Amino acid sequence: MKETVATIRKTSLESIEKATSMQEIEEIRIKLLGKKGEITELSKQMKGLSQEERPLFGQTLNELRDVVTINLETKKEELKNIEKNIRISKEVLDITLPGRGIEVGREHPITETTTFLKEIFLNMGFDISEGPEIEKTEYNFDALNIPEAHPSRDWQDTFYIKENEVLRTHTSPVQVRYMLENKPPFRMICPGKVYRSDYDVSHTPMFHQLEGLMVGDNVSFANLKAILTEFVKKVFGETKVRFRPHFFPFTEPSAEMDVECVICKGDGCRLCKNSGWLEIMGCGMVDPEVLKAVGYDPEEYTGFAFGMGLERVTMLRHGIDDLRAFFENDVRFLRQFK
Ligand code: DAH
Repeated sequence: MKETVATIRKTSLESIEKATSMQEIEEIRIKLLGKKGEITELSKQMKGLSQEERPLFGQTLNELRDVVTINLETKKEELKNIEKNIRISKEVLDITLPGRGIEVGREHPITETTTFLKEIFLNMGFDISEGPEIEKTEYNFDALNIPEAHPSRDWQDTFYIKENEVLRTHTSPVQVRYMLENKPPFRMICPGKVYRSDYDVSHTPMFHQLEGLMVGDNVSFANLKAILTEFVKKVFGETKVRFRPHFFPFTEPSAEMDVECVICKGDGCRLCKNSGWLEIMGCGMVDPEVLKAVGYDPEEYTGFAFGMGLERVTMLRHGIDDLRAFFENDVRFLRQFK
């Protein structure tokens, strides 16, 4: 009997030692300690022993069971650790792989230009004002001294909402609203969206303007020239400018302001149509009729006004030649602007 125990002990410890998987360990456990396992069977033989023999045999069997159980548990732990290490080694992160990168959004070039220009005027003491895009014809045309028969009122150029309501065709009505709500002296700008029924390389039905107005006791054409020249230098750097006589219903005298061509520096090229100059904005002294329309006394106050297209300024700043690119939302175009 002793020998049997010794043999079982030896072979079982050997097979536990050799086991390489949890499944094998479980199989060994069943083979030894299961209902019909070798050690279980052995303990059934107790019955056939005498009173004297039993305690010693019991003790021997218990020892065997303990040794086998401890070895099984130890081996289990060992195998668990090995499996864990294999799993971890497979999970290793390759930190040399290139990352996925973060998509960084950018401001639309028109927005960027608008912010840039607003900043310049803010630094020169201008207030910023906004108004509705659906505007009364009274503010969009009448108060601005635009005659009943003026071509810009035409159904073909203007998007009419009702007989006396339009999508504003310029931001000048914001100047009217501002004058009605404020007392001079003041200086203000009004950037915003405007609408005209037009579509080609240089016209889109919606575009952006930035207009400005300065009214006070003694505002002169010299003030207009000084402020607008300073503004243009802040936008395009040291550059020549010129004022050409022009006509606008709401200003008198009126002018168009040109900057030296940003491409050819005055030599003449395709962009400036060989003139060496690029038109940048309209401007002039506020017409007395406009001052009267908002209840100001033209004997007491004078002012100047100006207006520019923000798409045009953006195109000149970045050398873009097709206005429509701004509105097509092609990310390849938009991503070029940092
Ligand atoms: N309102 C004009 C336009 O839409 C631009 C303009 C010109 C505005 C001269 C002004 C100005 O305030 O003085 O074409």
